[in-house]
Amino acid sequence: MISKTISSQTETSNLGNYQDIYNSFQWQEAEQHFTWNETGRVNMGYEAIDRHANSDKANKVALYYSDQIRNEEYTFQEMKDLSNKAGNVLKDIGVAKGDRVFIFMPRTPELYFLLLGTLKLGAIVGPLFEAFMEGAVKDRLEDSGAKVLVTNPELLGRVPVEELPDLEKVLVVGNEVKEDAKLIDFYERFDGASKSLDIEWVDREDGMILHYTSGSTGKPKGVLHVHNAMIQHYQTAKWVLDLRDDDVYWCTADPGWVTGTSYGIFAPWLVGASNVIRGGRFSPDDWYQTIEENKVTVWYSAPTAFRMLMGAGAKVIEKYNLSSLRHVLSVGEPLNPEVVRWGMEVMNLRIHDTWWMTETGAQLICNYPSMEIKPGSMGKPIPGVVAAIVDDQGNELPPNRMGNLAIKKGWPSMMRAIWNRPEKYQSYFLPGDWYVSGDSAYMDEDGYFWFQGRVDDVIMTAGERIGPFEVESKLVEHPAVAEAGVIGKPDPVRGEIIKAFISLRDGYELSAELEEDIRNFVKKGLAAHAAPREIEIKDSLPKTRSGKIMRRVLKAWELDLPTGDLSTMED
Ligand code: WT7
Repeated sequence: MISKTISSQTETSNLGNYQDIYNSFQWQEAEQHFTWNETGRVNMGYEAIDRHANSDKANKVALYYSDQIRNEEYTFQEMKDLSNKAGNVLKDIGVAKGDRVFIFMPRTPELYFLLLGTLKLGAIVGPLFEAFMEGAVKDRLEDSGAKVLVTNPELLGRVPVEELPDLEKVLVVGNEVKEDAKLIDFYERFDGASKSLDIEWVDREDGMILHYTSGSTGKPKGVLHVHNAMIQHYQTAKWVLDLRDDDVYWCTADPGWVTGTSYGIFAPWLVGASNVIRGGRFSPDDWYQTIEENKVTVWYSAPTAFRMLMGAGAKVIEKYNLSSLRHVLSVGEPLNPEVVRWGMEVMNLRIHDTWWMTETGAQLICNYPSMEIKPGSMGKPIPGVVAAIVDDQGNELPPNRMGNLAIKKGWPSMMRAIWNRPEKYQSYFLPGDWYVSGDSAYMDEDGYFWFQGRVDDVIMTAGERIGPFEVESKLVEHPAVAEAGVIGKPDPVRGEIIKAFISLRDGYELSAELEEDIRNFVKKGLAAHAAPREIEIKDSLPKTRSGKIMRRVLKAWELDLPTGDLSTMED
């Protein structure tokens, strides 16, 4: 059995007495730190990199990069020079303030130079996960009206360049790129580009980054964040990541997801920490080695990854020295108490759960080094943030009652728009200025929040958010599939896996080959992580009278649960 609470771990964390600070903190205190304090203008690219390059941190290592082939270090001064060069390449091909520049490439140092270079021009960056296939790439570029795409020769084949009228230039990061009216060779221009670049100073409310994420219905939504988010990235780097000057920090997330930008780029660099980036795929040996070789002190990862490491066993972990670690954090899905216990056993450290979403831009409910942890709980709101459990009308519920996890509007890193869809944006809010997360939870009598599930049908698989509708739409494009309903099925390692119920068109019969073909069809059309691991054939699917597939009923069948109210179901 794991004990009910784990006592606080350090007396010397950046966030001292949680309650005292919670009671007195005002965001204005954190705002003082940035250039707008003097000039009224600001830029994330400058605040994250240049301000350190212009200080006594110039020769401090900003980035430790490694993958199977490369092993490199860059100081803040070098990051400044290289992101300026990348910025100049982008400027030369026409990028200006407000343009959308998408980056579709694997985690390499060049991705980071280009992302920072984009921000320094005041343009809006849209990072795309490298696993996306043509359909998913096209949807996002089309919806955002992207003007420039940065990619590499391997991924270029998945970009339907001719079908995207807004897309003016494609910058290709690779060897011997053949240029044409649209394709531009990155290295050819980068090598000779100037190291000096005039920063485009922007308003704190100007657009900075666009992350596409899934909902339960329709196409992915473009969540827009503005430069103002830096206030919260900075403050949570101090309080939650607990970063200090001598820390070496590693966030394992890819910048295609919000964790990989907010906490893989912005938060650590805003406080001038040394940041580790590991390219390539997950492997227990590579991961432990990354900690050992870089002497990582603060580590931010996800429950799925911890469970995979746990599954790899003690024999692997024993080969490595992980004693540099001081502080470990998790995000993305519920952190099982069992994983917390594993952390105590193998690292002698608590794993600190943190809760937030693409839409919230930064951490909101967390566990802090100075606070007792109740394993299984997401912790308490950060100072400056008001969280509550509300009913569907926005009324606050008392402790221990389950309801909608909601946040009082006004935290610095809140999304400012869903791209092109104002009505969608409005749908997140309830009377009383409550932002409604789509998660259900309760708060206990000590003010700790406990995650209970999603209120919508969004699937969290291996920490990635998948919209069931997007998968269903792809499935019904397959010639054999008549109807499809997609649910998340609980899985011990991935949290959930994608399970599809389908009915077949006349003349088709299920076979192992057909099943594989359908799975590959989704993989090729959407992304490998969106393909259903399990497919089950039904003669027909449960539908409402208006023809909507009832995923709730499919889920109940799958889990042997009562199906609930079936009054809206067609006969
Ligand atoms: C959804 C947001 C920005 C974090 C990465 C995922 C789930 C997130 C936790 C947690 C239980 C969590 C929620 C949330 N989630 N953190 N600590 N415990 N569930 O960002 O892809 O926007 O997904 O992830 O369901 O709504 P995302």
